[in-house]
Amino acid sequence: MSSVEDLRILLSREQIAARVAEMAQQITADFQGEPVLFVGVLKGAAIFLSDLVRQVELDATYDFIGVSSYGTPRGPKQEEAWDSTGEVRLTKDVEHSLRDKNVVLVEDILDTGLTLTFLKRLLLGHQPRRFCVAVLLDKPSRRKLAINADYVGFTVADEFLVGYGLDYAEKYRNLPDIRVMPGVVES
Ligand code: IMP
Ligand code: MG
Repeated sequence: MSSVEDLRILLSREQIAARVAEMAQQITADFQGEPVLFVGVLKGAAIFLSDLVRQVELDATYDFIGVSSYGTPRGPKQEEAWDSTGEVRLTKDVEHSLRDKNVVLVEDILDTGLTLTFLKRLLLGHQPRRFCVAVLLDKPSRRKLAINADYVGFTVADEFLVGYGLDYAEKYRNLPDIRVMPGVVES
């Protein structure tokens, strides 16, 4: 059994906190006193969202949206690799109306882009006044669909990461640092 301490730290809690504070300052400046509705993508973005919104100096509120992808879970062995069909399905809708609101969609990581492309299309259908995307992590080398975030915490290499909301089979979300999970095959 390998322990958490064996997983290499990619981003320490201090690095994350400093960058999230900068992102909150940037969002505060960009929305200049306007109200903002943050929409977090369950479950991975919950921790990032809670740290971010507490440092945004705006009239803000937040909601959550839930999605799941079809396919089999990622595993450490080749034969358990993620077999995504590329289909994303809504598991929980937002509770607030987004019409005419300034909406910031908050996600843990932008990877292939399938999730955010699906969500962007869905949420733009509500006709928000302004819509943008904030992600803590961006893995541009994995992109399958052309989508970028307006706010990016860190650009990272193609390694499977856990902690600070990111899971491996629902584990490790509560780790305060972001660590590298070796040997996870993604498609
Ligand atoms: P996308 O639809 O491929 O952009 O995937 C986004 C989702 O995949 C994220 O919300 C994460 O849940 C998951 N994901 C992608 N890369 C990682 C990773 O390195 N660690 C944990 N989850 C990941
Ligand atoms: Mg996620």
